[in-house]
Amino acid sequence: MNQSDNLPSHHGTDSAPKKTYPNETIKLLLERGSLRNFTDKKIPPDIMQTVLEAGIHAPTGGNLQPYSIIKIENKSTAALLAKLCGEQNFIAEASVNLLFCIDYHRLQRWAEIETAPFTATASFRHFWIGFQDTIIAAQNICTAADALGLGSVYIGTVTECFRELIDIFDLPQGVFPVVLLTLGYPKAKPPVKKKLGVPIVVHDEKYHELDDVALRKAFDDKYPGLKVQITPERLDTIAEVCRKVHGEVFAQKCIETIEKNGFINAVQRYFGLHYRADEMPCGNDEFMKIMEESGCNWFKKFEYI
Ligand SMILES: Cc1cc2nc3c(=O)[nH]c(=O)nc-3n(C[C@H](O)[C@H](O)[C@H](O)COP(=O)(O)O)c2cc1C
Repeated sequence: MNQSDNLPSHHGTDSAPKKTYPNETIKLLLERGSLRNFTDKKIPPDIMQTVLEAGIHAPTGGNLQPYSIIKIENKSTAALLAKLCGEQNFIAEASVNLLFCIDYHRLQRWAEIETAPFTATASFRHFWIGFQDTIIAAQNICTAADALGLGSVYIGTVTECFRELIDIFDLPQGVFPVVLLTLGYPKAKPPVKKKLGVPIVVHDEKYHELDDVALRKAFDDKYPGLKVQITPERLDTIAEVCRKVHGEVFAQKCIETIEKNGFINAVQRYFGLHYRADEMPCGNDEFMKIMEESGCNWFKKFEYI
């Protein structure tokens, strides 16, 4: 059984929004939250069009726009996505799902039609920029959607179903899924979550290492009270994870720490029970294989003629 079931949420602690803001844009950004409760109200086509236009007006390396967005409104496709992306049922309830894909296929076709050289599906540099371009467009869409009274949540578990997505949406060679964005009207305004603050995340001029006390305090402030109850199953799972990735001595040390504290702390919960440190690296080879099968050879040595 997945030990993350019935755990207190890892999405963090609600933070009370500020009362005053310099303007509406800053208010929108500081009061945003991921939405997982959607009404069945449909997004009108003109609203959707505005949201999408705002997204594709985002900055993009060289103004190349190496991405495509699959717009999914079909209910049975959404239900299938919900299942494939780890039984996240709210995906099926949302009005629209957008699958963001890095897309060098369109540019490759353009180069072929116009007789231009092309190696973007075989170049790490193009991958690096194209991935960023894709996400930046997605985030512009989130903000535009929020501004028009919608809400959204990213779904990262497309990693669990790359092949299925490529198949379902007829993605050609050179097109690869990056992230799903689930969009719709909110049943209620989503909570605003606490974040690590500016002094922790922003480094003046150079990277400054926090000492242990300051680092622990930063995360304690972000996740106050996130203390997971000890159960024999959870202890067994954490011990097994620790044993597999760091060995028996570390496993014993981790369990002793938990027993001394009287609870499983936030980071033990993150990497011992939810994003399990032993499971997360599984399938690295397979991911590379799927990318190669999709004509995306961004990480391989390029063979010149
Ligand atoms: C790349 C990415 C993947 C995510 N995947 C999921 C997901 O699969 N399911 C989910 O419920 N939330 C997902 N989220 C939303 C995060 O859980 C959320 O952003 C985080 O808990 C912070 O909460 P906030 O967005 O309300 O500030 C994802 C967010 C990002 C940026």
